[in-house]
Amino acid sequence: MFIAVCCDRGAPGSTTTALALGVSTPEPTVVVGVDPYGDDLAQRCIAPGGGSFPPTPTVLTLASEARKILDASLVASMAHEFTASTRVLPGHYSAELAGGINDWKPLAAALRMSGSRVVADLGRIHSSSPTVPVAAAADVIVMVTRPEVGAVLHLKDRLERLAPVVAKIRNAPPMIVPVVVTPKRIAGGVVDQVGQLLAPSNAAGVIKGIGWVAIDPDGYELMYAGKVGGKDARTPLLRSAAVLNDQLDGVSGVRSYAEPEDEGEIA
Ligand SMILES: Nc1ncnc2c1ncn2[C@@H]1O[C@H](COP(=O)(O)OP(=O)(O)O)[C@@H](O)[C@H]1O
Ligand SMILES: [Mg+2]
Repeated sequence: MFIAVCCDRGAPGSTTTALALGVSTPEPTVVVGVDPYGDDLAQRCIAPGGGSFPPTPTVLTLASEARKILDASLVASMAHEFTASTRVLPGHYSAELAGGINDWKPLAAALRMSGSRVVADLGRIHSSSPTVPVAAAADVIVMVTRPEVGAVLHLKDRLERLAPVVAKIRNAPPMIVPVVVTPKRIAGGVVDQVGQLLAPSNAAGVIKGIGWVAIDPDGYELMYAGKVGGKDARTPLLRSAAVLNDQLDGVSGVRSYAEPEDEGEIA
C-alpha cells in the first residue's frame, strides 16, 4: 500500500496527517517526507531514546539511490526507526536542496515497490509540481483540506486540474480521498458539507469518499514525541487516523500485509 498525502495552498496538515496515518496501524510503515518545498519531520520527530534522527539519509539520498538500484527493501532500509512499527525518512530541509532531484520518477518507483507500507508527504501540489509522478504512483491520494468553504472550493479546482494530469501518467484514473482536518465534535457535519461542495465537481468520478482527521494539539505533541502505544494510541488524532486508514484500505482494495506485486513500469 502506498498512500500519497498532499494539500492545496494554505491547507496546513499534510505532514501531520501523513505521520498520523503512518503510526496508527500495526502494519510496518515508512513515512517519507517528499515535500519539494522542504520538510519538518526531522525537526519535529523525537527519535527513540530522545534527540533527533541522524542528518542522513534523507529523501535526497533515496532519490539518488533509486536511480541505481530498485528493490522492495530500499525505502525501509534508508529510514530511521521511530516507533515499534514505523520508520521515518525525512525530506530535505529547504526547497533549494530539492534542485538535486532532476527526475522524481525513480523515487516514485522506489516508493511504489516498497515491501513496507509507505505514506509519503508530498505537501502542496498542483498539476505542474515535480512530485506529480510520485502522486501518480500511489495507490491512493489523500488531499488534505480545512473545513472552510474557500479552502474546499480551491480544492475542487485543484482536483479538476490535477486528476487528468495524474491519470495520464498512470494510464488510469487516480483514487483520491479528500481529508478534512477538523475538530472531532463537528467532523460528521463537516464531512457531509465537503461532500456536497465537491459533488458537482468534474473530478467527482475520482473522489472516493471524504475522510477526516481530528485537530488535536495534545495528540499532535504525543505523536511527534513517538508516544503512540497503549493509551497514547487513543488520542482523537490517532483514533481518527486509524479510521481513515481503514477507509483508505477499502478504497484502494490493497489488503494490509499484502505481498508486494510486480508493479511494472511507471511512465
Ligand atoms: N491534526 C492536527 N492537530 C493539531 N494541530 C495540527 C494538526 N494538523 C496540523 N496542525 C497544526 O498546523 C501546523 C502545520 O501542520 P503541518 O502538518 O506541518 O502542515 P503542512 O505539512 O501542510 O505544512 C502544525 O504545526 C500544527 O500546529
Ligand atoms: Mg509539511
